[in-house]
Amino acid sequence: MHERSDKAILRVLDGEPVWPLPIWIMRQAGRYLPEYREIRKQAGSFLDLCYTPRLAEEVTLQPIRRFGFDAAIMFSDILVIPHALGQDVRFVENEGPKLEPITSLADLDRLSDEMPIERLSPVFETLDRLRSSLPRETTLLGFCGAPWTVASYMIAGKGTPDQAPARLTAYRDPAFMQALIDRLVRASTAYLIRQIDAGAEAVQIFESFGSALPPALFDRLSLEPIRQMVEGLKAARPHARVIVFVRGGGPNLHRFASARVGDALALDWTLDPARVLPTLPDGIATQGNLDPLALVAGGEPLMQGIDHILASVRGRPHIFNLGHGIVPETPIDHVAQLIARVRGSGT
Ligand code: CP3
Repeated sequence: MHERSDKAILRVLDGEPVWPLPIWIMRQAGRYLPEYREIRKQAGSFLDLCYTPRLAEEVTLQPIRRFGFDAAIMFSDILVIPHALGQDVRFVENEGPKLEPITSLADLDRLSDEMPIERLSPVFETLDRLRSSLPRETTLLGFCGAPWTVASYMIAGKGTPDQAPARLTAYRDPAFMQALIDRLVRASTAYLIRQIDAGAEAVQIFESFGSALPPALFDRLSLEPIRQMVEGLKAARPHARVIVFVRGGGPNLHRFASARVGDALALDWTLDPARVLPTLPDGIATQGNLDPLALVAGGEPLMQGIDHILASVRGRPHIFNLGHGIVPETPIDHVAQLIARVRGSGT
């Protein structure tokens, strides 16, 4: 068991209902903020921003200063793992990530077998700085991508509709797929352990492409690798808390919950918390799940969306968040209105 924490997010992750709900939002440091765009211009490339601790610290703090979120998520990206393993990774303006595709066991052999963790030392330095610069009530979060989501970028070399190249690879070359997933489980677990040691109090695992997998592949490529990561992390660092976000994980949510994979399950915006939460085992925390586009739209859809979540989760351990990342066109006013509504919802 953990020492009882006075940080709202950690209390929820330990299974305690907290009201008003604590709140942070996925991708809270990003292009909807003018102060982010300013630093982004100064940094040069996106990866330079990720690997310059002073700047990564600054953009992590920006949404905390502006909105006072209950958690700060360290500024980085899920693709720093393939980069550290030796794959060529670039971020092209207005196009997104571009990688040199890895499509066979021979390609995989050219990457590091063990995670060269020191290549990610700027990330750990960012965490170390944040540990002292954050307000004392703010929880510091680390993160990484889930193996399937990261593998889908490594195989296709870019974002792809329904992750078709990676899915096809899973059928045609299962030995390669499994070797890649296993490599990512080991690398990601080592990375999360170091994040905890550097000051992260909880970590979130992003399975952003959970919806693409058919049932025959889901267990092997998503559920089981994430289970192994959580188990490995908790065996090494029992005090680490884990949030698991499986976008499109709806049909499999109960299996994550009953296998106790993580302290909290983050719901995407397609799920109705009023229906889902009462069916989950006691004690498991949840997070989510406002539609990011309701936050763009504002007005009644925003307020109704917030109020429905608040009414559905009352009395349960829940962290308010979006059902996926905030999008760049989101008006800043709407974020302020969201926080005021959640925090002003009484005691
Ligand atoms: O504030 C935070 O949440 C922390 C930072 C964070 C980023 N990426 C910064 C970023 C986090 C947690 C991520 C995770 C991430 N990265 C995911 C999983 C979460 C999700 O949204 O599903 C994925 C799939 C990626 C891969 C990735 N990185 C893509 C597809 C892109 C390009 C698309 C886009 O939004 O532009 C990125 C780039 C990226 N990562 C940006 C930011 C702020 C924008 C790039 C820029 O500023 O130039």
